[in-house]
Amino acid sequence: MDKPIALGADHGGFELKEAVKLYLEERGIACHDYGCYNTESVDYPDMALAPCDAVVKGECRFALLFCGTGVGISIAANKINGIRACCCSDVFSAKYTRMHNDANALCMGGRVVGSGLAIELVDAFLSASFEGGRHSRRVEKLAAIEARERTTR
Ligand code: RB5
Repeated sequence: MDKPIALGADHGGFELKEAVKLYLEERGIACHDYGCYNTESVDYPDMALAPCDAVVKGECRFALLFCGTGVGISIAANKINGIRACCCSDVFSAKYTRMHNDANALCMGGRVVGSGLAIELVDAFLSASFEGGRHSRRVEKLAAIEARERTTR
């Protein structure tokens, strides 16, 4: 993979982020860890910003995001223009959100999935490719919603 993977977590996702980071590093996949760096309480919307910005700017290929449920940080990520984040706890969804939604952020819950499953989710996400075709039109419509929000609110 050419560009690094951006990692971000709140305190609820910190330990799972560390486990996934170790796995990626062992496989020689470069990561940029945007925190948090310990289990002190932080707010998940804050923790989504830097890794998602890195993806939107093209500095990182994907973001892997973690909070207690994976849900809060996915909501935050999806508010950033250009981010298509999916909160997953099953391998099928992790694979198909790349293939059909061209997802660029995978979110997982540190209180939901164990490290073994998280690694399978990450593998499924990173090894799948966007299928294009009819799915391109739908992803373009997601961008059109973002443009509408920018201009009408
Ligand atoms: C933090 O306690 C928790 O609310 C957060 O990690 C996340 O689960 C929110 O969706």
